[in-house]
Amino acid sequence: MMFSAMRHSLSAITAVTLLAFAAATLAAESDKSPRLSTPLAPTVNSAPITYLPPLKVDAPKAELGKRIFFDPRLSGEGRRACVDCHRPEQGYSLASDISPGSVAGGGFRNIPSLINTAHKRHWGMDGRHESLTAMIEEMFTSAYTMGMDPLLMSERMNQDPDYPRLFSEAGFANTDAANAYAAVEDYLKMLTSKNAPVDTGMLSEAARRGKTLFEGKAGCIRCHHGAMLSDGDFHALGVAENPRIMDQAANRQALMAHAAALGRSADPDTPQDLGRYWISGAPEDMGAFATPSLRELSKTGPYMHNGAFDTLAEVVEFYYFGGGNRGNRDPLLRPLDLDLQEINDLIAFLDALTGRDLSSGRYVWDAGYPAEYPTLRYWDHRAVSKPQP
Ligand code: HEC
Ligand code: HEC
Repeated sequence: MMFSAMRHSLSAITAVTLLAFAAATLAAESDKSPRLSTPLAPTVNSAPITYLPPLKVDAPKAELGKRIFFDPRLSGEGRRACVDCHRPEQGYSLASDISPGSVAGGGFRNIPSLINTAHKRHWGMDGRHESLTAMIEEMFTSAYTMGMDPLLMSERMNQDPDYPRLFSEAGFANTDAANAYAAVEDYLKMLTSKNAPVDTGMLSEAARRGKTLFEGKAGCIRCHHGAMLSDGDFHALGVAENPRIMDQAANRQALMAHAAALGRSADPDTPQDLGRYWISGAPEDMGAFATPSLRELSKTGPYMHNGAFDTLAEVVEFYYFGGGNRGNRDPLLRPLDLDLQEINDLIAFLDALTGRDLSSGRYVWDAGYPAEYPTLRYWDHRAVSKPQP
């Protein structure tokens, strides 16, 4: 049902009506799935939900990183920038179930928000990178995102009339790809959530009740806790595969290529995104993904690693039934004993996790780029390192 034609028109209200219908169905079949009779207590290590402290930012590097993040010349075919997939007004994510991929290729994962990403401990939905720099490098060089070669990138930046001066003013010795990754990292450090109702204490009555449910009876806090609302761990929820990945050859190809790059193979007839398993090889990690931060949710739909759900009501419906019907679902998930009012309260709390917009000129590069400039004398990567005459 989640991927039927209907999903695009499903408003929060019809989803909640659906939930009421589902609740009746579930009650009728209650002997099939054990319902939760006693409230779930938070686990001992559930950290309280607090605000996120701003990170220390090197301002000239961040300003340079901003220019780079918005610059389409720094992709292989010269027409795509980071911002094309991570859009400021969409919480630095994209309103599409799965990533568009490069011109020739496809995509197979939802595009995550970059707000607060610099606060994480590992990156990628399977946690494949332990450093943010490595993730940024992958985004520039990978065929399914920017398809850029680091040497060509250095050359393009050196050719621009402004980059060499900006790199030097930011304290970098060279105008090259590695320093560009570092500058983008400083830019991403600027993107920290601010002034969400959950931080300012300006919660509506419904959101306040929702918070109590989130931390108690609904058990969400067991995995979504602390300032990031994430335990930084991996769990299998049993989210169904997105048929658009199976049905479209380019998307399927991108998934297979990702598995291959991690030294694994996906069955070409029924390719499944095994997530963390492709990194750890541990059977319990089959289909497990990193617990995402829940901050900025109102702007970052669709949700889950493959964009399975368009609305927060659909996500809550999924949890209401205790997650998906797949093998090794995390034992922390169980059908929830919530009535309609409580479901709406929970959604109101999820909506209260979104802070101030980060799409003003402070965060967005709107000065454009020079259109015409002379070519470099040594326009050849074997020659750029030669001393200039
Ligand atoms: C074609 C779309 C696309 C483009 C262009 C793109 N990204 Fe991404 N980005 C994604 C997708 C999809 C993911 C999730 C990948 C995964 O988890 O496997 C992602 C993940 C990330 C993450 C990790 C977020 C997290 O919390 O784990 C960072 C950081 C990031 N991108 C930065 C960038 C930067 C910087 C650029 C420009 C160099 C860029 N992206 C360009 C699609 C894109
Ligand atoms: C067992 C740990 C666990 C519990 C308990 C849990 N979650 Fe999650 N949550 C996750 C993981 C892991 C994901 C990502 C799954 C994926 O991408 O396929 C996720 C994803 C989400 C998302 C989508 C976020 C996004 O950006 O795509 C929302 C919203 C969410 N959870 C809300 C809740 C709520 C509300 C509850 C309580 C009813 C809850 N979660 C309980 C682990 C958990």
